[in-house]
Amino acid sequence: MDADRLKQAVQAQFGASAAAYVASAVHAQRDDLRRMLELAAPRGDERVLDIATGGGHTALAFAPHVREVIATDLTPLMLEAAERFITGQGIANVYFQQADAEALPFPAEHFDIVTCRVAAHHFADVPQFAREAARVLRPDGVLVLDDTIAPTETELDIFINSIETERDPTHVRDYTETEWLRFCTEAGLVVQHSETGTKQLPFVDWCRRARVELATEADLNRRLREATPAAKAAVAITTVDEQVTAFALHSLVLVARKPAQRR
Ligand SMILES: C[S@@+](CC[C@H](N)C(=O)[O-])C[C@H]1O[C@@H](n2cnc3c(N)ncnc32)[C@H](O)[C@@H]1O
Repeated sequence: MDADRLKQAVQAQFGASAAAYVASAVHAQRDDLRRMLELAAPRGDERVLDIATGGGHTALAFAPHVREVIATDLTPLMLEAAERFITGQGIANVYFQQADAEALPFPAEHFDIVTCRVAAHHFADVPQFAREAARVLRPDGVLVLDDTIAPTETELDIFINSIETERDPTHVRDYTETEWLRFCTEAGLVVQHSETGTKQLPFVDWCRRARVELATEADLNRRLREATPAAKAAVAITTVDEQVTAFALHSLVLVARKPAQRR
């Protein structure tokens, strides 16, 4: 899919699922958000840019700890849903603006912290996103990235990415940790911390949030159950009566700092 068609498909896909992403327990769950906050270590006076804010869970987690958060997303309906969700909780320091992660409408060196959680695997051009994040960060500012990743084994990488794309055609790629380190470094950022883990996903909820057809849900269920032992172990599939009930995707949280200017 070319970049323009992908972006139209993203707006259609997420526009139609906006309420489901706001309500999503997986996206609201606090463990990785707590970790992002811990690693960003805000002092309270930061200006934060949250890229691809989706239902707004990252913006909401950061808002009480910083001066302001600019929550951005490519999908206007998603942004509206996030705004209702966040302002509905009495939070007044989050501002909302439509923005493409690959062409950010902000001046250089404008933000202290840039966050992007569980979204970059939908971007057409991740190196360009990394360059844009680096551009809008002030010297010494940090990008805190959280995304699903592929395991290092090629066979598992192909399997997981094909499962993800079957469930949501706007999925571009879960990159490996090594690829992420390279994207950041090539954008001029210095990776200071990188950690991997897994994220448990209730299977039916994961399918329905993306509004998959029942036939696709059945096919994904079959493919997960019939996966090779290595793939089954990698995604920790649990089944009850021939139905996949949950599985796990691999995830990455990294912190990359823009070097301070030499005097
Ligand atoms: C799963 S949601 C993000 C979840 C959210 N960050 C959180 O913490 O819960 C993915 C979001 O990426 C957005 N998106 C996809 N491509 C984008 C792009 N090129 N620029 C900005 N946002 C994009 C979609 O509109 C969607 O809202």
